[in-house]
Formats: sequence, structure tokens, C-alpha cells
Amino acid sequence: MQRTPLIAANWKMNGSAALVEEMTSALAGVATEQIQVLICPPATLLCRFTAPINFALGGQTLSHEVSGAFTGELSAALLIEAGASYVIVGHSERRSLNAESDQLIAAKLMRAVVSGLTPVLCVGETLQQRQQEKTQQVIARQLDAVYASQPELLAKSVIAYEPVWAIGTGESATPEQAQQTHAFIRQHLAQYDAKAAEKVKLLYGGSVNADNCAALFKQADIDGALVGGASLKAAEFAQICSSA
Ligand code: G3H
Repeated sequence: MQRTPLIAANWKMNGSAALVEEMTSALAGVATEQIQVLICPPATLLCRFTAPINFALGGQTLSHEVSGAFTGELSAALLIEAGASYVIVGHSERRSLNAESDQLIAAKLMRAVVSGLTPVLCVGETLQQRQQEKTQQVIARQLDAVYASQPELLAKSVIAYEPVWAIGTGESATPEQAQQTHAFIRQHLAQYDAKAAEKVKLLYGGSVNADNCAALFKQADIDGALVGGASLKAAEFAQICSSA
């Protein structure tokens, strides 16, 4: 089946008002009839996208709580009010640096969906886990933690496979390695909802750039990318979008 490609940018704790303008004009030249583009800047920059845009906006994380005394946190409602329609959930940097557990990630994903945001759930193994041949086991655990008890959320999700060893290292997974894991993810998800598993967009993330993206996008189960470093260069990110 044909899935519309989605190319997503995760600016992480980078970017500026100047990059907002630069990206808006670089993407204006990209034909977005056949693809979807998503920019996830730091939350403080969401409101800076004031010019007409041909892409969606997203947050990089959200609170699982609705509102209240949670200093420094951002609710789904606040993200939506700032212009977001997507949110990244369970990025490996949040899992490792902010000690986000599988259970917390499941709660955040549920909060995103019930609030009307499309979650981009990140899963992926560390180098050590890959070397120990535990890639599938780790990813199955990360997926099960979210969808085993709430399978109805799958149809509302996007999933990003991001091998931790490929993030920011310049060492992308090969198209074959990525395809193998994407096929496993789709097959694993089918036990929850076969129809939703066939439709769900599976993005690859980890050192994607203008040179390696085309080979990744040719793979049957790779429906786009979650781009970090290369999404901070407007011209290169536009080129990645045009390659999808
Ligand atoms: O969310 C994006 C990923 O962490 C990939 O980052 O493209 O800099 O490797 P990267």
C-alpha cells in the first residue's frame, strides 16, 4: 500500500528566529502535494512561524498531565495553542537524559492522542544492545509498553526507528539494516491491529542527510525520516524533503 512520506525535523535545543524564517522560505520551494513535512523546533519558537507555511509544526515532548503545578512542563493544550499538531514522544535523549520510562512514555503518548496531537513515538537500540543481538527484543519492549494495553492508539501514531548509535554520529544505519528493523516493527505491530500496522508511517532517524536519504527512502517499509543535525541547514533539509 502507498503511504504518504513524512519528513520531520527535530531541531532539539537548537535554532533561532532567523532559522524559522530561513526554513520557511527554503520549504516554500518544495512541492508538498505528495509528501508531508513537519518541523519540531524548541517550543519557544513555535509561535515564530507567522508567515504562511506548507508544513506542520510539532513539539519535542509534552507532559502526561493535563495542566497544573508542573513547573517547566508543557501540556498538549499549550503546544496546540502555539501551533503544534504533532509531538515527539520517547526520543532516546529524553529516555536517557531525562530518565523517561516506558510507562511514562505510554502515558505521554496517550495524552497526546486524546488531546488531538499526532505522536511521533521514537524507538531504537543502543550500540551495546545491537552488539548483543537484542535489537528486536528492545524495540518490541518499547512498542509493547505503549500499544499492548492501548492498541487503539496505533492508528493515530507515527513511529520513528532511531538506532541510538546512529544519532548525531554521522554513522547512519545502512538502508538494508534500517529496512530489516522497519519490517520487524511493522510485523510486530500487526498483532495489535493489522490494518493500522499496514498504514502507520515508519520514519528512520539517525544521521540522515542529503547524500544518504534517497537510498533509505527507496526501502519498502521506510516512509520518511526524522532528521536532527541536517534539519538545521535549511537548504539541505529542503533537499531531503524533495528526495522523498
Ligand atoms: O530526532 C532526530 C534524531 O535524533 C536524529 O538526529 O540526524 O542528528 O542523527 P541526527
